Amino acid sequence: LKAVPTQNSASSITDKYAFAFDIDGVLIRGGRVIPEAIEAMKVLNGENEFGVRVPYIFVTNGGGKTEEERCLDLSRQLELEVSPGQFICGHTPMREMAEKYNTVLVVGGVGEKCREVAEGYGFKDVVTPGDIIKTNAETTPFRKLTEEEWNNSRVRDFDKINIEAIFVFADSRDWAGDQQIILDLLMSKNGRIGTRSETFQEGPPIYFSHNDVVWSTAHDYTRIGMGALRASLEALYKAVTGKELTTIAFGKPQLGTFEFATRLLRQWRKDTHGINKAPDTVYFVGDTPESDIRGTNEYNAHTSSGDAEWFSILVKTGVFQEGTIPRYPPNKIANNVLDAVKFGMQREF
Ligand code: G3P
Ligand code: MG
Repeated sequence: LKAVPTQNSASSITDKYAFAFDIDGVLIRGGRVIPEAIEAMKVLNGENEFGVRVPYIFVTNGGGKTEEERCLDLSRQLELEVSPGQFICGHTPMREMAEKYNTVLVVGGVGEKCREVAEGYGFKDVVTPGDIIKTNAETTPFRKLTEEEWNNSRVRDFDKINIEAIFVFADSRDWAGDQQIILDLLMSKNGRIGTRSETFQEGPPIYFSHNDVVWSTAHDYTRIGMGALRASLEALYKAVTGKELTTIAFGKPQLGTFEFATRLLRQWRKDTHGINKAPDTVYFVGDTPESDIRGTNEYNAHTSSGDAEWFSILVKTGVFQEGTIPRYPPNKIANNVLDAVKFGMQREF
């Protein structure tokens, strides 16, 4: 790992434009770096014919680890230093909900580790599915906790606890068990485990960190993700209770996530590069039309004059496949992230 990005000493930082990158399907696929990504970062850091360095941030719907841990992973994969000051994941904006709810259920990720993420956000009392199963193994007849889950779970007196909200932070590792627990809570009186509402209108609200039905991983075809769990849970709730379930999703393509990204980019440019103005253009490079391209286009349509123009670039290395028509048309289609970076820089020259 090189501590600092390779830089062309003759190059100067540009205040005119910036890049924002999606991660899965653009920089990483199935835990491995997409080779062009390393080159693309070098180009942004001054190894280019234009003599400039370009500020950039990362905006992923993924999650399951703290921002600090994710940045360490990304630094190793991209062979440069990535700071939490330039990084947003699906659950990052959820930190703003820590003020609102005291006791929450946090679902997803490996080994109940999302508890630490939520506690780091300031959530005061975090319950995980492991806590509920460890307290009553009958909750999920076919799911046994792994050793790691068992060690990271706590027996609680759930007769005295009201769970005020449910947060799905990262992909569930056991849909059946997690859906059973979520369903129990949604059907409860005021989030008290072991109770049943007569109206099914007294359960806690449920928030998902994003709504990607599919995502790009090591398999040739896209794999189902958190948006699929959400759709499944809505159907399940309807089948069991006869009622519609209202759920809320964060992440891309939500406007709030792009607003959050805009604030992060402003702060990052100021703190790291001493630039105290909005860029004219932000190039967003993504692989998923429904989240990356839709979000970028809608955010751009929503901003007023004086704000940065957000420009969407769709790459062919992830969810979007050559020969299909993207449901949300991008401003530009590029083969990969390196071509996307070169295109943006050329356009600015
Ligand atoms: O679970 C993560 C996945 O749905 C998408 O991640 O980086 O493509 O926004 P990303
Ligand atoms: Mg992606």
